[in-house]
Amino acid sequence: MSITGIKGMNDILPGDIETWQFLEEQARKIFKAYGFSEIRVPVVEKTELFCRSIGETTDIVEKEMYTFEDKSGNSLTLRPEGTAPVMRSFIQNKLYSQDPVAKLFYTGPMFRYERPQKGRYRQFHQIGVEAIGVEDPKIDAQVLAMLAHYFEAVGIEDVALQINSLGCPECRPGYRNALLDYLKSKLDALCADCRRRYESNPLRVLDCKVPACKEATGQAPSVLQHLCGSCDDQFSAVQRHLKDLQIDFSVNDRMVRGLDYYTKTAFEMVTGSLGAQNAVAAGGRYDGLIRDLGGPALPGIGFAMGVERLVLMLGEKRVQPPRPELFLAAMGEEAAQLAFVLMSRLQRQGMQAEMDYEGKSLKSQLRRAGKFNARQVLILGENELARQVAVLRDMDGGTQEELPLADIELILLQRRDGA
Ligand code: HAM
Repeated sequence: MSITGIKGMNDILPGDIETWQFLEEQARKIFKAYGFSEIRVPVVEKTELFCRSIGETTDIVEKEMYTFEDKSGNSLTLRPEGTAPVMRSFIQNKLYSQDPVAKLFYTGPMFRYERPQKGRYRQFHQIGVEAIGVEDPKIDAQVLAMLAHYFEAVGIEDVALQINSLGCPECRPGYRNALLDYLKSKLDALCADCRRRYESNPLRVLDCKVPACKEATGQAPSVLQHLCGSCDDQFSAVQRHLKDLQIDFSVNDRMVRGLDYYTKTAFEMVTGSLGAQNAVAAGGRYDGLIRDLGGPALPGIGFAMGVERLVLMLGEKRVQPPRPELFLAAMGEEAAQLAFVLMSRLQRQGMQAEMDYEGKSLKSQLRRAGKFNARQVLILGENELARQVAVLRDMDGGTQEELPLADIELILLQRRDGA
């Protein structure tokens, strides 16, 4: 029996990869304009890094990590997200020593042992950014403006930005207590997971998708009513800056994130078109994380987009594979040799050219050119060779012309540059 891949981990095949490359190229281009540099960190880290940053009582750490022992008995984990590894690298490499402000982006696979379904996979890919070292809420608005700009640039329209504030270590405990008070009388109505969360991580109850839990928490107190003065000011300023930048958003005071490192601003880019997996991008501030991981007390904010979800959302607008510019159809040994050398010369100059290597009939070669969807076919037979010409057929217009063989390379290249 042949060996198959792992459930929830997908191949990205030719025909699909063009859309992925487009999404990555746009990210590189746009993030560069906002001053972000790329960083690449390993896909495996010490397990402790994720326990300490994402939080011991989150679903990710409790149930979803691919954790294993290496041959020396160290506990390692395939990264479930990118923020913690990037902060680990930022601290370890003392990236703050020159300038405490760092703007970084990354792309790559992440791993979570979740139940696979449309838009949710066990190996998935993120494009993420982290802006470190700026307290001012202008950076929150900048990061959100960049996110909105990205969606606009790649042509994804059916998305809405939701923001919230999750408070800080000053005001969160007060809110937590108010929520516990409220939930106490509703415990019987909650699902088993939420009864557990009530003890360990009560804010997560607000995020539960089970209808009974949603109903039971309908009247829960709002985190926004419990913000301290400084978090309240910060949240108002973020909204003011977003309005100045003309970024559409709504406030969703029930949005809590699945990672414990967040403080203050939290946000999600949501869509109605992906069923249950409605977040295409998500992020927030993590002002205590770098210090908690042993680094300097620097704030940070960032987001990650799920590339599979972006690809799904692009739907009809997916990028088509490139069409070969030229297919060379040759008949006879001598013509085939000439075509082969010409093809190689054109390829060296960047022209996407193809030919048939197996000396098939003209009809079969033209069929192959059609299959490749080539723009033009250059026909070289014994007859043409004798007259020192080649026939160039335009596959879209259906027209053809004879061109002098001696200048064929030059003519083809000149026409391409002029096109
Ligand atoms: P997250 O909300 O866990 O945040 O993930 C960000 C995005 O990754 C989600 O909105 C979704 O598009 C995608 N995603 C997550 N899990 C899956 C999955 N199983 N299959 C497919 N796509 C998925 C973070 O990871 C934070 N590190 C984001 C961040 C950066 N916060 C600050 N900086």
